[in-house]
Amino acid sequence: MSSLSLSAEAPSAPPAAVDGVWLECIDCGDAYAPFESVRYTCDCGALLEVRYDDLPTWDDFEGRGVWRYSAALPFEEGVSLPEGDTQFHRVPRLEDEVGVESLRVKHEGMNPTGSFKDRGMTVGVRTAQELGVGRLACASTGNTSAALAAYGARAGLETLVLLPAGKVAAGKVAQASLHGARILEVDGNFDTCLDIVQDLASRGEAYLLNSLNPFRLEGQKTIGLEILEAHREDYGEYPDRIVLPVGNAGNTAALYKCFRELVQAGAMDRDEVPKLTGVQAAGAAPMVEAIEEGNDETRRWDEVETIATAIRIGNPVNAPKALPGIRETGGTAVAVDDDTITQAQRDLAGEGVGVEPASAASLAGLRKLRERGEVGDDERVVCLTTGHLLKDPDAAAAAGADPEPVPGDTAGVLEHLGS
Ligand code: F0G
Repeated sequence: MSSLSLSAEAPSAPPAAVDGVWLECIDCGDAYAPFESVRYTCDCGALLEVRYDDLPTWDDFEGRGVWRYSAALPFEEGVSLPEGDTQFHRVPRLEDEVGVESLRVKHEGMNPTGSFKDRGMTVGVRTAQELGVGRLACASTGNTSAALAAYGARAGLETLVLLPAGKVAAGKVAQASLHGARILEVDGNFDTCLDIVQDLASRGEAYLLNSLNPFRLEGQKTIGLEILEAHREDYGEYPDRIVLPVGNAGNTAALYKCFRELVQAGAMDRDEVPKLTGVQAAGAAPMVEAIEEGNDETRRWDEVETIATAIRIGNPVNAPKALPGIRETGGTAVAVDDDTITQAQRDLAGEGVGVEPASAASLAGLRKLRERGEVGDDERVVCLTTGHLLKDPDAAAAAGADPEPVPGDTAGVLEHLGS
């Protein structure tokens, strides 16, 4: 049975393990020592996962934020700003309108640099310290670069980021710049940037901190742990479904790993696992295509376009981990048009929740699945919003109302309001 199955047995430590932690190939099962050398993939070419011989249960967690869950992570502490412990909004008007038993919004835009990427970087940059690497690097649609720049700065490490020229939202470039990253604007899309940075990493030029790096996904697992704990506290049960935007499918893979480990630890029953539901923009939807066509792999889309630039990705590298997650949890994937993303962004803002376009895709996707009858009215649903509104001020301003020019005196203002 595949180690990615929800029914897989809890693993036991191979000789390569160090203190009960090792890296394991998701395909051939080969094991590697975790910090002996820099390694992102297996010798057979497939993706790696961090594995533990001692999986924690709920009683093993204490404190707040990502490091509350250190028992589920490879370190006791990380390079921390700190991150996690994000808002779990009630959205009563949207809950009514969508027509589900309950709807909550987990706002990952409230992390220190404004996206969920911080959860991955607190672990990823700590791993870089453990390995003793010199330079950190990533390809990015923006948020990863902002997070890497900040955590790299915190750790005193040099950072290099490769961005698709002209396709990264202003707030994100500003962050990477001010936190001191060296920014290379690549003539190509995100997937080209990732190809190049992987080449650089394999030549030893830099340590790769994209979600291909299995340690980053460990930190991102904590989104799932926070959602499950908070939901159980408020409703006495876990959510039926988690809806999230999908780009490289790292988060989808991380949430699935979170669920699998809880099941293996006996902390959650198999039938309590939330249905993982991925949303992509219609102009960049290779995961949706693979789910709809029943494929085990995604086809690389060379031409991608969407207002949700964060998920403007045609070759989701974590698909081999994420596709089984969507299928085994009974979830699905859906593509949404840009105008429905913008409407969802406005409607979330109307509940006081300010998110960037990619994040709003989760609500747009949920609406579409409700219309199709694929999500029941009896379901408890959580939408994940991954990035803050201020990340993309241009998209926010375009979606919102225009400022109205008025004269610089009260009479003039009153006259304008009255007219
Ligand atoms: N939402 C936001 C706001 C993102 O920035 C990203 C990915 C995603 C969703 C998709 O997450 O890749 O785990 O499926 N942004 C990456 C970046 C690619 O470079 O910032 P995923």
